[in-house]
Amino acid sequence: MLQRWRTAPLLLVGLLSPSFTLAGPAFENTAIVRTVELGGSLVHVSTTYAVRALEPGQTVYQIALGKDEREKTSWIEAKVKGQQTSLKVEELGGDIAGHLLAVTLPKTLAVNGTINLVLETVQTHAAYPWPERAAQTDPQALKYGTDLFILSPYQTQVQRTKVKASSPTIHSYTTPENVDEFVRDGSVTKSGATITYGPYYNIDPSVNAEFVEKHQQEVVVHYNFDYPVLEVKKLQRSAEISHWGSNLNIQDNIELRNSGPALKGQFSRLEHQSQTYFHTQSAHVVTGLTQHLPPGIRNAYFYDLNGNVSTSRLRTTPSVPKNAKSNQYSVLELKPRYPILGGWNYTYTLGWDAPLEDSVSWDSKNERYIVGVPVMTLIPGAVVNEAEVKIVLPEGATDVEFLSPFPALSSSVSTHTTYLDTTGRPAITLEYKDLTDKHTGTIYVSYKVSLSAHLKKPIAVATAFFGVFAFALTARRVDLRLHKK
Ligand SMILES: *[C@@H]1O[C@H](CO)[C@@H](O)[C@H](O)[C@H]1NC(C)=O
Ligand SMILES: *[C@@H]1O[C@H](CO)[C@@H](O)[C@H](O)[C@H]1NC(C)=O
Ligand SMILES: *[C@@H]1O[C@H](CO)[C@@H](O)[C@H](O)[C@H]1NC(C)=O
Repeated sequence: MLQRWRTAPLLLVGLLSPSFTLAGPAFENTAIVRTVELGGSLVHVSTTYAVRALEPGQTVYQIALGKDEREKTSWIEAKVKGQQTSLKVEELGGDIAGHLLAVTLPKTLAVNGTINLVLETVQTHAAYPWPERAAQTDPQALKYGTDLFILSPYQTQVQRTKVKASSPTIHSYTTPENVDEFVRDGSVTKSGATITYGPYYNIDPSVNAEFVEKHQQEVVVHYNFDYPVLEVKKLQRSAEISHWGSNLNIQDNIELRNSGPALKGQFSRLEHQSQTYFHTQSAHVVTGLTQHLPPGIRNAYFYDLNGNVSTSRLRTTPSVPKNAKSNQYSVLELKPRYPILGGWNYTYTLGWDAPLEDSVSWDSKNERYIVGVPVMTLIPGAVVNEAEVKIVLPEGATDVEFLSPFPALSSSVSTHTTYLDTTGRPAITLEYKDLTDKHTGTIYVSYKVSLSAHLKKPIAVATAFFGVFAFALTARRVDLRLHKK
């Protein structure tokens, strides 16, 4: 009871203004280790917090991200180290010093209770080509900058940041300044493709203007990156559900951009052919993409602004039963009409049909259909800046409900009318931004279709067919009469 009286006013204050000092003495970080996997359009960051409670009854731990870091981050997930379930994360907001997240612990911690939390984030548009222009045969190099100190509202005994490149060629990295009070050996070390900042000892609570002003600084790593830097500027996915044809058609319009260094000088086809021959293609010359499409698809098509592109290969695998845990997929080796160089765009359309039974279920209790439509098909390493997913339901679908696997920027319901439709078909449109390889979830749509609505299509088709038939009959009669003459 006493406990409740004590926490209630605190909670209220917390709601009104997320004050940073309130959380101060609840925990201490015995160690924080952050690992940055350097990439192209996507940078994966994993931070482990070894936490000890200093006050009884602790259920919420606060994690801080720098202001810039929060702006670049488009995926956030917290777990207990070694476990699969995600913990509830709430945004508390922030100011110039940093941005706070509240992570709900799976169990209450008593004084001296410990837990290891892992925060997984994906940053987009964080790395950039350096130099900005490169010749066709130059390697591709990027720069990535991050805050040196991992901020926290709690005292930290020791912290370090490891920055890992996928290629051992590291051109340069920043040596931090003015960190003597935290350092025992050195402020930064390099070993192979890994730069380690720290260990830094005895850091006071740091989500405040004073600490940030005095100690926070950007460190930049300049590294070679041997994979393409791809950006989907816009993805428009349209999924059409047809009960009548038992079909799910998915079509993607994709505006792809190679965001690697812009081409310096002219493109030389001869140079390109020789590089292709010797397999010495630079990463910023993109000649193809591999995409994993669903199993069981048919009638796949791929065209660009100039028409069909026939140089691609698709290997389909058979359908797998719904809800079966399976890693089966069809593989599309997409070959654009021309190599996509740094700064170049390539706009194309990719579509396919899939058996509806692979993604529809029937909820007999509520008499509803439930259809799952993937948000997107991953292009490895690419960020999707803007995505619009439109799901067109069968004609006569009512009581439409939908669930996005992660929050959409906006959602709307409209009516879509096509050939042979009588009343038009309900359509749901969801918009997203900065999607990463973690945003591969499924949108679930559920709806009802009455029996009379189910029959509308056959009736419309029958009417149209009968029309053609009647016309054929008359035409035939006319024809006969002409012959008789
Ligand atoms: C917590 O740990 C500290 C140091 O290890 C010890 O002095 C203190 O008594 C412990 N408190 C409780 C409640 O166990
Ligand atoms: C593209 O190819 C498909 C079949 O492969 C064909 O049906 C269609 O007419 C072609 N379109 C163009 C514009 O060539
Ligand atoms: C690619 O598209 C962007 C806008 O999306 C444009 O600014 C740029 O000039 C285009 N690049 C080329 C080579 O056409």
